[in-house]
Amino acid sequence: MSNDTHSRAELYLGLISGTSADGIDVALVDCAEERVRLLKGITISLAPTLRQQVLALSQGDGSYDIDQYGRLDVQLGEAFAAAALALLGIAGVAPEAIRAIGSHGQTVRHRPLGTHPFTLQLGDASIIAERTGIPTVADFRRADVAAGGQGAPLLPILHARLLATRDEPCAVLNLGGIANLTVLGDANGIRGFDSGPANALLDAWCQLHTGQPVDSGGVLAAQGRPDRDLLNTLLRDPYFGAPPPKSTGREYFHLRWLDDHLRGRDIAVADVQATLLALTVQSVVQALAEHAPSTRLLWVCGGGVHNRHLMEALKAALPFPVRSTADVGIDPDFIEAMAFAWLAKARLQGIPGNVPSVTGARGTRVLGAVYSPTPSF
Ligand SMILES: Nc1ncnc2c1ncn2[C@@H]1O[C@H](COP(=O)(O)OP(=O)(O)O)[C@@H](O)[C@H]1O
Ligand SMILES: [Mg+2]
Repeated sequence: MSNDTHSRAELYLGLISGTSADGIDVALVDCAEERVRLLKGITISLAPTLRQQVLALSQGDGSYDIDQYGRLDVQLGEAFAAAALALLGIAGVAPEAIRAIGSHGQTVRHRPLGTHPFTLQLGDASIIAERTGIPTVADFRRADVAAGGQGAPLLPILHARLLATRDEPCAVLNLGGIANLTVLGDANGIRGFDSGPANALLDAWCQLHTGQPVDSGGVLAAQGRPDRDLLNTLLRDPYFGAPPPKSTGREYFHLRWLDDHLRGRDIAVADVQATLLALTVQSVVQALAEHAPSTRLLWVCGGGVHNRHLMEALKAALPFPVRSTADVGIDPDFIEAMAFAWLAKARLQGIPGNVPSVTGARGTRVLGAVYSPTPSF
C-alpha cells in the first residue's frame, strides 16, 4: 500500500488489548472527513508470560507489588509499539504518514464506583511515541471518570457512526472479555453499558479444565447443558439488575466469583461452560428487554462473534435478527481498535469523545493525553 494511494486519506492507528487479554489489536484507519474506514487490521498475540501477568494483576489477587506493576507498564508499552510497527511494515506505510496513534492500553483495574473511583490502563504511551516516532494519544478514560462518569463504555460513539440507521432501532453488542451493548435509533439518543461477562469467564473456565485458552466455536459448551439453578443464581448477581450507567471488568467477573456460586454443587465441566454461555446470552436478552425494548436488529462484533454456539444461542433467544457486523463490511475484530484511532483524531481536534448519556459524566469531555515523540536535533 503506497502512501500516494492515501494522499487524501488521514491515517491513524488504533491500539487496544481488551479484557480478554488475547492479543493487541492494531487498526490502520482512514479518518478523513467523516470517514472511519479500516484499511488494515492485525492482532498480535500477547506473549504468554505477559498475558499471565496481565491476568494475575487484573484479577486483583493482591500478590502484585509496585515494581512488578511498573515493569508490566513498560513491557506492555514495548509490545504496543512493536505491534504498531508490525502493522506499518505489513501495510507498507511509513510512520510519517500516520497523524497519531490512539492507544487504549490494557485495563488492569476498573473501579468506577465508590469514594475514589478509578480506572487503570497500562502500556506506557511515552514508549510507544518514542519507538514509533508517532504522536500517541492515551489515557482515554480518566477525563470521563474525573467528570463523574464511568469512563466506559467508550465504543458507543463509533457504533453510532458506523451502524445507526434512521429507520430501525438497533443495538450493537461487543462480545469481548466483558460484553457491552450500545442502543441506537430509539427516542432516547445513544445509550450503552456493559451487560456483563462474556469471553473472560468462558476462556477462564475452558483454560482451567481443558488447558485450552479458548472454547473454540463453543464446542465444549455445546457438549453440555445449562444448569438452570446455577444460571438463575448467577443472574441474581446485583450487577445484572442495576440500572445504567454501569461498567465492569475482570476484577468483578472472575473465576472466584463463579467458584463462590459453584460451592456445594456438582456440575459437569461442559455443563458449567454451557451455563456461562447461557449467562452471557440471558444477560444480554434481559438488558435489551429492559433498556431497549424497541430494538429490531442486533449487530454483533468482538471475538465472541466467532463462537458459533454463542451466536446460535443468541439468535435462538432473541425475536429479531442477530447479525455480525461483517455482513455490512465492518470487520468485527477491529471495531474497538478503530474506535481508539478515531478518538485520537477527536483528541487532536478538540472533539469530545465521551457520551454522557452512556457514561454518566457531567458533560462531554475531550478524552486522552498526547505524548509527542521528541524530535531529534
Ligand atoms: N473461534 C472462536 N471461538 C470461540 N471464541 C472465540 C473465537 N475467536 C475468538 N474468540 C473469543 O474472543 C476473545 C477475544 O475477543 P476480543 O474481542 O478481542 O475481546 P477483548 O476485547 O476483551 O480482548 C477470545 O478470548 C475468545 O474468547
Ligand atoms: Mg482482544
